[in-house]
Amino acid sequence: MGRSRVGLIGAGNVAQRHARVLSGFPDVVLAGVTDVLPEAAARLADTHGTRAFVDADALLRADLDAVYVCVPPFAHGPVEEAVLSAGLPLFVEKPLAADLETAEKVAAMVDGAPTAVGHHWRYLAVVERARELLDGRPVRLVSGAWLDKVPPVAWWSRRDRSGGPVVEQAAHVLDLARLLVGEVTRVCALGDGSPPPSVSEDVDADIDSATAATLRFASGTVGTLTTACVLRWKHRAGLEIYADGLALAVSEDELLVREGEREYRLDGDPEAARVAVDRAFIDAVRRDGDDIRVPYAEGLRTHRLACAIARSAATGEACDV
Ligand SMILES: NC(=O)c1ccc[n+]([C@@H]2O[C@H](COP(=O)([O-])OP(=O)(O)OC[C@H]3O[C@@H](n4cnc5c(N)ncnc54)[C@H](O)[C@@H]3O)[C@@H](O)[C@H]2O)c1
Repeated sequence: MGRSRVGLIGAGNVAQRHARVLSGFPDVVLAGVTDVLPEAAARLADTHGTRAFVDADALLRADLDAVYVCVPPFAHGPVEEAVLSAGLPLFVEKPLAADLETAEKVAAMVDGAPTAVGHHWRYLAVVERARELLDGRPVRLVSGAWLDKVPPVAWWSRRDRSGGPVVEQAAHVLDLARLLVGEVTRVCALGDGSPPPSVSEDVDADIDSATAATLRFASGTVGTLTTACVLRWKHRAGLEIYADGLALAVSEDELLVREGEREYRLDGDPEAARVAVDRAFIDAVRRDGDDIRVPYAEGLRTHRLACAIARSAATGEACDV
């Protein structure tokens, strides 16, 4: 089998990362990139010695084996529909969309070809270790948090563009909670109703600065999720889990474990996980592996949870997931 020809739709921050990782794989060739900003596509294409295409339709005619969709939340939908209609394997960055309806519509189109969502935390060795430690132990309490700054992209502070901090950022933590503790069935959330300081004068922020949610898992476990985007640094993003006689704190960077008098810390390796998520997708595309941990349907379950929390915070009503 020759090298797999991969196209990128969207040429921003995360696309640059995938392009870097993919161009390090000997069995992949970056076949082209497109972006609604032609200069962004041209820049990324130049960096990797590939072609910039005027739009997704033109890129999809370039004899591709797979496509990465790296657009902001509000731009999902038509792009995935074009990729899936072309019968091509689809890697899509989280969140699946700014809303739930778009993602449900795309999910209904998935048919056979491999799909993967950029929930790379599932490939962290510390997450594997946390799973082993929790095996057979009922979890009693979960406490997730994403406490950070406002990312410097204009779309982020607008609810209809990003979906808000729970959907856009805390989705990683919610995905981990589902993996380690199980499905959430009911949520009740509050937002502070006050936007964070603006990152630029052109952006009229309308997201909450802070959200606090309670979660009920199918197992009976209870939990919380909190978000804040008012800092100037990334303060904490991760999950604390309490089982009988065991306390864990897991994030992209580390796992902290306390079991009675025994206490230890393991380093996370986010870069390895970012490579592994791409490697698993490419292996599936090449029919050379079966380690996609979050296909579209699984990503949709995390997105449903995030959207239920966002909906509850917006309405003040508890929501079933
Ligand atoms: N998994 C991760 O760790 C991770 C890390 C960073 C970003 N992300 C996610 O990736 C997504 C993109 O984030 P980013 O930081 O790269 O944003 P960005 O704004 O830097 O880049 C997005 C790019 O998409 C382009 N674009 C918008 N609409 C388009 C369309 N219809 N067709 C083609 N291009 C289009 C924009 O012009 C922009 O260049 C976000 O949903 C974000 O949450 C995930």
